[in-house]
Amino acid sequence: MKSLVGRGKYLFQEEIGEGISGITYKAINQTNNEIVVIKTIHSELLQEAEISKIRKKFLNEAQRLLECSHPNIIPYREFFSEDGVPYLVLDYIDGKTLDKIVLPDNPLPEAIAIKYIRQVGAALKFVHSKGILHRDVKPQNLILRQDTQQVILIDFGIARECSRGLVHTQTNVVSDGYAAIEQYLPRASRTAVTDVYGLAATLYTLVTAQVPIAATLRDRFALPSPKNMQPKLSNQVSEVIMLGMTLEPEERLQTVDEWLAMLPQGNRNSALFTAFRSKSRKQEVSNSASSSALPESKSVNLDQNKSVKVSENTPVKQSNNNSLYKWLTIGLLIFLGLDYAWLKFRDRVQDQPTQPNIIQQR
Ligand SMILES: Nc1ncnc2c1ncn2[C@@H]1O[C@H](COP(=O)(O)OP(=O)(O)O)[C@@H](O)[C@H]1O
Ligand SMILES: [Mg+2]
Repeated sequence: MKSLVGRGKYLFQEEIGEGISGITYKAINQTNNEIVVIKTIHSELLQEAEISKIRKKFLNEAQRLLECSHPNIIPYREFFSEDGVPYLVLDYIDGKTLDKIVLPDNPLPEAIAIKYIRQVGAALKFVHSKGILHRDVKPQNLILRQDTQQVILIDFGIARECSRGLVHTQTNVVSDGYAAIEQYLPRASRTAVTDVYGLAATLYTLVTAQVPIAATLRDRFALPSPKNMQPKLSNQVSEVIMLGMTLEPEERLQTVDEWLAMLPQGNRNSALFTAFRSKSRKQEVSNSASSSALPESKSVNLDQNKSVKVSENTPVKQSNNNSLYKWLTIGLLIFLGLDYAWLKFRDRVQDQPTQPNIIQQR
């Protein structure tokens, strides 16, 4: 491993991250003494047959970053190859990634978590407007800049173009807990809904200090609602997180904007969320009136949790039936009781010797 790259411009200082194919270093630009970050390939991989694919991955990350200049996205500096090794140079952000702040047991107050998530949402909206998906939104890829409230989205290593309708072979790199179900499928269309899932799952971790259950396990294990783990959390935030983490991509909110609009605005419920709640309550009532058994098909999502609630409370129709049976039984018992009493009374009157007989015996 060389200590100087870029024709002597950058001097490596220390390793700060290691992924499947790449290593991230802190380095110093010797021309102006600025600290930078350099991402490059693992030296062991240089002999691999797949090396050209890995080189392409770095070039792809550089291209995506070049297109995405935004206050909440890591600024790109330059990209070069030396002796066949690619180097991607980025601004160094002094701070901590959000997983280091929150995990294992330091959940953030919801107002702060939402403040961070809105910034990431703004970055994603910008990325999507460029026709790109990030596909790896998670606390490990978000840096909170030291002594500020500014959050920076990093790691465009698996970012790709959006392609509504078109089906693509996905790269099999996924982050369990934050990856949407469609990212595990070998062929799926790429749309903004995938990043909606990652963003909602990130908020899940920020407010609970727990990594969500992987999407692939959710047909067997229900995803506990954030409120379950963090009772202080508002119902609204908990429900909006579950809504963003709806398993089926077609049923999820389709854009980051739509999902962000459901989150509370300051201390107020968002108008959209209030409208959504009243609509879904009406839905619950009509569901309970029209059917006592709800379909079990779709696995865990907010709608299904609601349907569970509905069936737990037992539909109104069924409770009316129960009381009808109760009153019929009571009525029948009273009738039988009266009938029995009357028969007893009649028998006793018949068995009594009459007055004239007594006189005759005498
Ligand atoms: N620009 C940056 N400034 C400060 N730290 C960074 C920066 N980029 C990456 N890091 C650190 O390096 C780690 C790995 O970088 P990342 O781009 O996520 O690569 P990968 O996850 O593919 O290995 C990050 O989690 C973060 O801790
Ligand atoms: Mg990363």
